Amino acid sequence: MQVDLADRLHFLARVQNCSRRKLLVWAACAGILYPLRPLTAFAQGGIGYPQTVQVLREGFLSETAAHNRYLEYMTRALAEDYGNIAYLFSSFARSEAIHARNYSRVLQILGVDCTLVQGEFDIGDTRSNLKQAAARELEKIESVYPAYISRLEEEQFAQALLHCRYAWDAHRQHKDKLTQIMNYSGFFMGAVIRKLEDIDFDFFVCQVCGSTLDGQPQGDCPICGSSVDNYNNIERPQPTYASIKYNHSEKE
Ligand SMILES: [Fe+2]
Ligand SMILES: [Fe+2]
Repeated sequence: MQVDLADRLHFLARVQNCSRRKLLVWAACAGILYPLRPLTAFAQGGIGYPQTVQVLREGFLSETAAHNRYLEYMTRALAEDYGNIAYLFSSFARSEAIHARNYSRVLQILGVDCTLVQGEFDIGDTRSNLKQAAARELEKIESVYPAYISRLEEEQFAQALLHCRYAWDAHRQHKDKLTQIMNYSGFFMGAVIRKLEDIDFDFFVCQVCGSTLDGQPQGDCPICGSSVDNYNNIERPQPTYASIKYNHSEKE
């Protein structure tokens, strides 16, 4: 049985209890917007970008965990009276938070919620935390992020690729700084990180991409190209009630 458009509209008008005129306007709008459907479809749960959504979710969890882990490292370093190393960790924590935020924003554009998961971390003394941090940053640079990017390239969602590349570059900066510290230390890490306390670290983090620089930025961000005004000078963390928990727990 063939039903023409007028019959359909009449039927819909009766069902929805609205005028034929309103329905004609609605149908015209639908006709105009239909060609844009592929552009709007992603706003409904990431339809059309399954790999991108998966990578962004993994990235969000990984960066959130990195943020929390660096805060734990910072607390431990403060408890051990390594103020400079604590400052380094808190600056990296800020950078990781920006990566997590960027991924969550792209997920929002895709119409996907992301859930924060609290994890437990294996925290050692500051010496072993530095080594662990360097190993994790190296793993991200050499294997995790190249894999993310090759998966994202399959679907070419521009904002996801952009923020993933920003984070990859920022992790290189983290790794370079950690390597610099490790090179100081050789086999005598304990003595060397004590000496590091005489150096004046002064960290700046780009609020757009998480770029982390030691020293006043000399121009626009080398990673995302945004204005130097987007760099925040990170404050040095102060010993807090939380930072003495390790001292207490070790004495018990
Ligand atoms: Fe990160
Ligand atoms: Fe930046």
